[in-house]
Parts: sequence; structure tokens; C-alpha cells
Amino acid sequence: MTRKSSPSPSPVSRSGRFASGPAAEVAAFSESISFDWRLWRHDILGSCAQARMLAKIGILSRRECSAILRGLELIAREIAAGRFQWKSELEDVHMNIEAELTRRVPAGAKLHTGRSRNDQVALDVRLWLRDEISALVIEIKQLQRSLVSLASRHPTVIIPGYTHLQRAQPVFFAHHLLAYVEMLQRDRERMADCLGRVNICPLGSGAIAGSTLPLDREEIARLLGFVDSRGRPRLTQNSMDAVSDRDFVVEFAAAAALIAVHLSRLSEDVILWASTEFSFISIADSYTTGSSLMPQKKNPDIAELTRGKSGRVIGNLVSLLTLLKGLPMTYNRDLQEDKERLFDSADTVRSCLRLMSALLDHSTVLDARCRAAASDPLLLATDLADYLVRKGMPFRKAHHAVGAVVALAEKNRQPLNRVSLLEFQSISSFFAKDVHQVFDLDRAMLRRTATGSPGTRGVLARLRYWDRVLP
Ligand code: ARG
Repeated sequence: MTRKSSPSPSPVSRSGRFASGPAAEVAAFSESISFDWRLWRHDILGSCAQARMLAKIGILSRRECSAILRGLELIAREIAAGRFQWKSELEDVHMNIEAELTRRVPAGAKLHTGRSRNDQVALDVRLWLRDEISALVIEIKQLQRSLVSLASRHPTVIIPGYTHLQRAQPVFFAHHLLAYVEMLQRDRERMADCLGRVNICPLGSGAIAGSTLPLDREEIARLLGFVDSRGRPRLTQNSMDAVSDRDFVVEFAAAAALIAVHLSRLSEDVILWASTEFSFISIADSYTTGSSLMPQKKNPDIAELTRGKSGRVIGNLVSLLTLLKGLPMTYNRDLQEDKERLFDSADTVRSCLRLMSALLDHSTVLDARCRAAASDPLLLATDLADYLVRKGMPFRKAHHAVGAVVALAEKNRQPLNRVSLLEFQSISSFFAKDVHQVFDLDRAMLRRTATGSPGTRGVLARLRYWDRVLP
């Protein structure tokens, strides 16, 4: 490296030990304020609790503590109003806020007692993620509601269900939508589970090995709401683990990646359904885009972008795992790289959830096209085999016999329900004159009574269930 670079002003973290500040290009390379500024609210929250705790153990006087709290409050107001001057030479959000506080309130110089940026950043990310998860869960719930509401608007619409993207068996459109509600419910549970491990207080771990000062970690944890259901403080139990643990970030990124994958699959369905070939749904103009060249086009871009964005959310998870895998204990600056991945996963998944929910709220089901597709009698070939089972034939044999009927119908170029009784009986004497009743779709749907099946009553019951439990 031959390029000359002038040293930047010495930040707080270099006082004493260093004769100069870092070279400008080093400062530019290592700053994180350009992205971690968004932790400010939680950084200030953590510092307020730290100040209160220091006052409790006698390191800050009441007066000093009040001055610090007032100073932090003012800084918070300035940041919220966009009036705070962030300085990249102060590296990160923690140094920016502390330096400005100390400039205004001399006692601010005592705030970092027993604290390191290593446990501070772990604290801030946990606090930030706690709020983020709560907000995300609300967005998931909103999408569940949109799915249930679309399903409730069309409870009797039947479409072909697909395996291998080939028509398989009839299902209520509502049943198909409710499959995503189940997936999203598991996503919510995963987030709640993740929250349990996020909600543990690392402050008091110092840089790596705690402190010789009598810090009251329980007090800080209680002040910041790091408590269990009975109000008992939840603390990290190993200072080395606490400052280098990013498992909770990975867990969140993994749960977010799975949400993104679920949304991507839903997007794929929406894209197919909105195609001319399927035409099961129509998306409102305001939630589609046009083509700059082809005047007739109405494209499902929201769904396509959601499908595409799942790639970066999966990528963020892989980045985080890769970031961690070679790290020796304990804190290493590599860990600063976790934030952009984390923020991106959170932001991306949240916007995808919101837009998908809006898209569904602005979509209508095209009943006639669904009915036409679902009236394909081949969808009831399995029902025909079940019919033979009810007449006493072993299923394997029934499967074979119906296969022969399908082949016959195909050869004669006739729909399955138009095969005559005589033709049916030429294949098996188990076919009787009630055989054509199998092709009554409404009856067929009523017959599906087992839990989880797309039966008429079951689907309505599940719709009512979701309506009740989704507040
Ligand atoms: N900005 C850093 C991060 O995001 C925290 C600072 C810790 N830096 C340090 N040199 N110990 O991880």
C-alpha cells in the first residue's frame, strides 16, 4: 500500500495508547456508523440502564446520573428529529453517542465503567432484535389474516390440487390458501422461540472477562426487561460466550430465511394463478406493473420480487454462518459484519410480508375458471379407486382397475365420467350402476372427513378456527 492517507482525528477509543488517529482510509474501512446508527434508540436505552445501575452501586452520584439521563434524552430527541451530527471518525453508534454525551455532560466519562463496546453491541443488537421480532410477528399475522380473508370470500371455490405441477385431486381454494396460514403459524412459533434466546442480557460481560467492579447485572437486566415470565432477570452465564455469541442472529436469520422461502412459494403460486393459462385469480391493476413495450401486459411483479428477494435472505444466513465459523474466541472485529446481513434480512422479509398481504387483499378469485379446471373428471380417479375399495376390492387392485379405465377413456377420447357402465364392467365387475355418482364433485368433497383433508366441513371449520385465533 503506497497511497498516502492523512490521519483522522483521534477517536475516544484511541486515547492514551496512540500517538495519532487512524489513517483516513483505515477509518473509512472500519467505520460502521453508516449502518449501525439505526441501533441508536437501543444504545441509549442500554446506556440509561447502565447509568442507573452505576448510580445504584455508588459509582455515579444521583446528580451525575440525572445529568447523564437528561443528556441522553436530549441526544435521543435530536437523533429522532434528524438534527444529530453523526461523525464517521467516531466509528460507530456507541462511540458517537458516548462522545457527544461526554462533550455535554462531564460525568458521561464515567458511563463506560465496567462496560466494553463488545458487551454493549451484543446488548444493542439483542434489544433491537427483540423489538424487530415483535414487529415482524405482527406482519406475519397480518398476512395470515389476508390469506384467511381471501379464503373466506370464496369458501366454496374448488380448484385442482397439484403434485409435480400436474393435476392431482380437487381441493378447496381455501384449503390451498390455508396451507400457507399453517406455514406462517410455524414461522411465528419459530420467531417466538428465537425471541426466548434473544431476550437474555449480556451487559456486564465487559470486553471478555467481566469486571472487577461490583456491577449489578440483575438490576440492568430488570431495567431493560430481560426477565422471564415470573419477572426474574435473565443473564448470560459466561462472559466470553456473551461477547462473541451471535447464535441468536443466526437463528433469526434462519427463521427469516424460512419465511422468505414460504413467501417465495406463495409467490410462485400467485404467479401461476395470475397467468392466462391458469387464470384462477386476478390482481388489481394497482398491485401489478405494465411492460414498457407490450401494451397488453399486466405483470405480477410484487410476487416475482418477493420470490427473487428470498435469494438474498438465504444469502444473508449463509454469510452469517460463514462469518462465524472460523472465529477464535472471543470478540473479533469480523462480528461487525453481522449487522448489515441482519438488518437486510429483517427489512426484506418485513416488506415482502407487507406487500404480499396487500397483494392478496387486492386480488379476486375467478370462480368460473376455477370451476372449469376443477371439473376435470380425472381429478376424481383416486375417488374411483376408493369407490372400488368400498365395494370390497383391495386398494392395489382398485388402483390397477382405475388405471385401465383411464387408459380406455383416453383411447376412446372420452372424459372419465362419460365411460359407460358397460365399459366400466368390462374392466371390473365391482363397478355397479352407482359408479357415476363418484363424479359428483360436491359429494366428493363432503366425503373427505379426516382431520386435515380438504373436506367441505373440515375446511369451513378450519376457516372458522383461524378467524377466531387470529386477533
Ligand atoms: N462496531 C463494533 C461492532 O459492530 C463494535 C465495536 C467493538 N469494537 C472493538 N474494537 N472492540 O461489532
